[in-house]
Amino acid sequence: MCGIMGTINKNNDAIQKVIEGLERLEYRGYDSCGIAYLDNLEIETIKTKGRVKELSQLVDSNIKTNIAIGHTRWATHGGATTINAHPHTVGSITIVHNGIIENYLTLKEKLINNGYTFKSETDTEVAGALLDFYYQKNKDIKDAITNFIKEVKGSYAIVLLCKDIKDKLFVIKKDSPLVIGTNQEGVLIASDIPTISCECEDYYLLNDLEWAIVGLDKISFFNNNGEEIIKERQVFKDAALTYSKEKYDHFMLKEIMEQVTTLSKLINYYLEDDRYLNLIDISKFKRIDIVACGSAYNASLVGKYLFEEEAGIETEVYLASEYRYKKNFLDKDSLVIFVSQSGETADTLACLKKIKETDAKSLGIINVEKSSISLLVDEVIYTKSGSEIAVATTKAYTSQLAVFSLLTLSSLVKNRKLDKTDAVITELKNIGNDVQTLLKDTSKYQEVAKKIVASKKIFFLGRSIDYAIMKEGDLKLKEITYISSECYAAGELKHGPISLIDKDTLVIAGNTNKLLYEKTESNLCEVTARGANTLLITNKNTDSDNILIPEKSIYVSPILEVIPLQLIAYYTGVLLERDIDKPRNLAKSVTVE
Ligand code: AGP
Repeated sequence: MCGIMGTINKNNDAIQKVIEGLERLEYRGYDSCGIAYLDNLEIETIKTKGRVKELSQLVDSNIKTNIAIGHTRWATHGGATTINAHPHTVGSITIVHNGIIENYLTLKEKLINNGYTFKSETDTEVAGALLDFYYQKNKDIKDAITNFIKEVKGSYAIVLLCKDIKDKLFVIKKDSPLVIGTNQEGVLIASDIPTISCECEDYYLLNDLEWAIVGLDKISFFNNNGEEIIKERQVFKDAALTYSKEKYDHFMLKEIMEQVTTLSKLINYYLEDDRYLNLIDISKFKRIDIVACGSAYNASLVGKYLFEEEAGIETEVYLASEYRYKKNFLDKDSLVIFVSQSGETADTLACLKKIKETDAKSLGIINVEKSSISLLVDEVIYTKSGSEIAVATTKAYTSQLAVFSLLTLSSLVKNRKLDKTDAVITELKNIGNDVQTLLKDTSKYQEVAKKIVASKKIFFLGRSIDYAIMKEGDLKLKEITYISSECYAAGELKHGPISLIDKDTLVIAGNTNKLLYEKTESNLCEVTARGANTLLITNKNTDSDNILIPEKSIYVSPILEVIPLQLIAYYTGVLLERDIDKPRNLAKSVTVE
């Protein structure tokens, strides 16, 4: 999704700093980019439909300037073209923007009636024009920004340059993240913390409807009425993030391999000193809703299964994009769990804001610390999997599964339904070894990748928790290979989709639940009878073409089951020479609705 980077500094290397920041933002996914900077007291803008590397080649590296803003654009309003790329200049204002201006058509009409013309199809140019419209009235940028905030509907993180005020940047925020960091050289502004944490010592987070005037020596903060406010300065405590692929060809492979340590660390942190017993007791609630998108939704389906089957607590899982417009039935006995790697997903965040108006308690299962969702929930459990750069999530997803296991076990132990010394807890503790076993020999996953490429249709099947895991396998394959695949509950196939099965089909099925082994096997007979090839991921002794995972409890087994699927998707993407870490059209964190 779109990324923002801006700086004002002493070193006159603002262009270089912005380009470096845009490179760090690349992982979010984008289709065009641009930069604006002050050169000889004029604002210069350079944009391209290409990558940040191409942008850097278009900029004269000899230019020394202390102020610049940049943007990576993920197209929403208008195609991925150079004209639509940010920054946009209208009158005195040059602007970069993340988010969506919902009433941009009404605003555009008003501005056209006031003599404005537009070059691009974007809502951002309209935002720039509205700011200019108010600025031209009395040349007061404060008035312009407060009027802008009053009139605009939608979400925005904005950084702007005003051609009459050459030593300041202006930033405005609503429903889209924005962080202002400082260091000895000056100020860096970005749309996410990881982009500047490697360069800054301190930072300020803007709340919705807040804005700031950023100068080299002073940053002033304001509320939506234009009143100056005090903001707390926060310190970067953790080591700066590294963006190195190390010995791997792709971040995705590195992150898959890292699961040995991310899972062990997370689980051992909570099991050590019985910390997991301090987690919220899910059994206290009469209603549990879990809300998420994409892979986080798939992880939540596993959570539902654990909560219901193991802890006996009825749970519903919802797609955030549906939940936000649905009637809710929440009261003080309800818990709503928000699952998100980035903690910034627009739909999930909107649902959280909605339920904040009820008496329900909110819990976040979040990877990125200090992200918008993590700051707004009543309680947060961090998944502690470190920065995830590849757009397709792997290690953050398995950490979400581990948190659901810990929450379930915590409730069972607290309610004396399970002993602290039970074998399932020891098993969870040793998960690193099992993950390591699955990652050791990747040749079998590469063989499956060849079969996938040779097939015309790919189906994923499973029952109960296997179905939830197969949904994630299906999503991974779609995301990074662009292969059109389908995923069904195994028993549902014969109600329609089986008509698609023929000799050109490869069916990948999960079968790890003893109680349902035979049922899933029968469904596989139905597809082989129609000519399909099959591949099983199972913990039951199997012929060598299938993939065997260790037989473990329900708290560990789903985590092990998904790892072969991640690697199969990865190697298929490699065979097809896809852009593995930045698949087409996708964004790492989806900050628009
Ligand atoms: C996962 O591989 C996807 N890129 C995507 O489905 C993702 O899980 C979804 O957009 C939710 O993101 P979040 O976890 O950051 O909220």
